[in-house]
Amino acid sequence: ARAVLGTRNLVLVGLMGAGKSSIGRLVAHQLGIPFVDTDIEIERVSRMTISELFEAYGEDEFRALETRVIKRLLKGGPRVVSTGGGAFINDRTRRHVKRSGLSVWLKADLDVLWERVNKRDTRPLLKTENPKQTLEKLMNARYPIYAEADLTVLSRDVGKDVMVKEVLVAIV
Ligand code: S3P
Repeated sequence: ARAVLGTRNLVLVGLMGAGKSSIGRLVAHQLGIPFVDTDIEIERVSRMTISELFEAYGEDEFRALETRVIKRLLKGGPRVVSTGGGAFINDRTRRHVKRSGLSVWLKADLDVLWERVNKRDTRPLLKTENPKQTLEKLMNARYPIYAEADLTVLSRDVGKDVMVKEVLVAIV
């Protein structure tokens, strides 16, 4: 699988709770290439949490910063890059991602996502009256766009090791 990538990146996209960060880290380890998480990198360079950024500057500013950070991260391939859920939705970011390597959509259904995100309330987009409904709306709006990724892997509760294998099998 490592040889297939060459200097290209493997970029994980999909909604919050799909497992981009946890699976991405393990896939990178298996491939023996570096792992980066765009949200963590954004928090590092801004010295603020994602929630603080949303509160202080709003979503548009956050997206602008996200686009710049991802563009830079994609330059150092090969890497496994896990992206924030909205990154691939942005036209510019999606173009950068598509040019830099293989994109994999970790696709999950609403209940799987909800189970995973409702335990932690770190997601500013879900601070609404009815977060599950908000998540569903995000799904409906974004799934046609995530579908532009090169590959799709179904994210289920089958254990991380199985998910990692499925991603590795998908890319060869
Ligand atoms: C967002 C997802 C989050 C984070 C921000 C916005 C989104 O990342 O970037 O809260 O628009 O879906 P995760 O997908 O890692 O939770």
